[in-house]
Amino acid sequence: MSESELGTLSAADRQRLDELNARLKELNGTFIGYPCSGVFDYAPLFHFLRYPFNNVGDPFVTSNYQLNTHEFEREVVEIFARLTRAPEDASWGYVTGGGTEGNMYGIFLGRELHPEGVVYYSEDTHYSVNKILRCLHVRNIMIKSDPDGRIDLEDLRETIRIHRDVPPIIFANVGTTVKGAVDDLPGIKKILHDLAISQYYLHVDAALSGMILPFVEHPQPWNFADGAHSISISGHKMIGAPIPCGVVLAKKKNVDRIARQIEYVGTLDTTIPGSRNAFSPLMLWYAFHTVGEEGLRRSVRRCLETADYAIARFAAIGRAAWRHPNSVTVVFDRPSQNIVRKWQLAVLHGAAHIITMPHVSREQIDRFVADMAEDESPAANGELSPEGETIP
Ligand SMILES: Cc1ncc(COP(=O)(O)O)c(C=O)c1O
Repeated sequence: MSESELGTLSAADRQRLDELNARLKELNGTFIGYPCSGVFDYAPLFHFLRYPFNNVGDPFVTSNYQLNTHEFEREVVEIFARLTRAPEDASWGYVTGGGTEGNMYGIFLGRELHPEGVVYYSEDTHYSVNKILRCLHVRNIMIKSDPDGRIDLEDLRETIRIHRDVPPIIFANVGTTVKGAVDDLPGIKKILHDLAISQYYLHVDAALSGMILPFVEHPQPWNFADGAHSISISGHKMIGAPIPCGVVLAKKKNVDRIARQIEYVGTLDTTIPGSRNAFSPLMLWYAFHTVGEEGLRRSVRRCLETADYAIARFAAIGRAAWRHPNSVTVVFDRPSQNIVRKWQLAVLHGAAHIITMPHVSREQIDRFVADMAEDESPAANGELSPEGETIP
């Protein structure tokens, strides 16, 4: 087929696209419930969408498929590696299709290194992890969470103690989905030390907070320097992108143990998918070369200030709302379904949240809180205690 045979849209089809655009534009105005930034402009990259490029294979190994952006992908991975304090020259990573894929990679690596291992994860873990565990068919045990969303260390200690004949594969949350809680990594390592467990794997899910904590003054322990063996971070969350993406990082010596040479593409099969999107690395590279790390630092500071503004506005109408340190997730009791729908809120049991991402303005918070002030209905399933505990 030649380019002249590609055809054009009918007037009716064009109209459908215009309608979709109008609908998305309107919905954008009330988008305060999910952790995806709406502040980005990748228009200068659009001409790259003409190429059938594909980042198949390991970005650090040459491939027969040369129409790729591996060079830019490597630079992105190197930036993320520095921001996560990955060991120099001893880490590896690739640009994923999002946090879920990075978590799958981390659990896969842990399972490959410790085939008998048991995965421990808290009940506040993102819902996709349960599906990953089913896909990988790995033994797993869900651990209780503290009311503030962090993994319950006592439950973890007792459960690992009972199963201490098999290596633990610990799935730690750095910024839980609903409450933005950061699991206590030093506390987890202390349990392993106390129980004299030397064979273990520690994967960190830092989907949102992985691009917040490098830019705050007092981050909670969360990265390679704090004991992680692999980390997954989403790209479309704090950095922002119209195509979901992310980065997974792991220790190179562990990845080397699972790598397989594939003749068909002439490269190493170290990634989960075969074909991989070559555009996302360009977006992430572009963000770091335009907004840059200083821009992200400013953006994170503003987002935290907006979160505090929201909490103050809630207080002004007599409703409790709270957040964890270094988190932009503002948690409150679940409002009526009308508000949930209008403001596209994420809800779980008695809790709801807004996430003050870079596009969320004080004016939007004011409109949202005004709606909350009118909201007659009590929390659907629970109430929020003054200490900030969600009581289901
Ligand atoms: C803590 C956490 N982990 C994983 C994910 C899944 O990430 P993604 O949507 O990038 O696949 C999310 C999504 O919100 C999340 O909040």
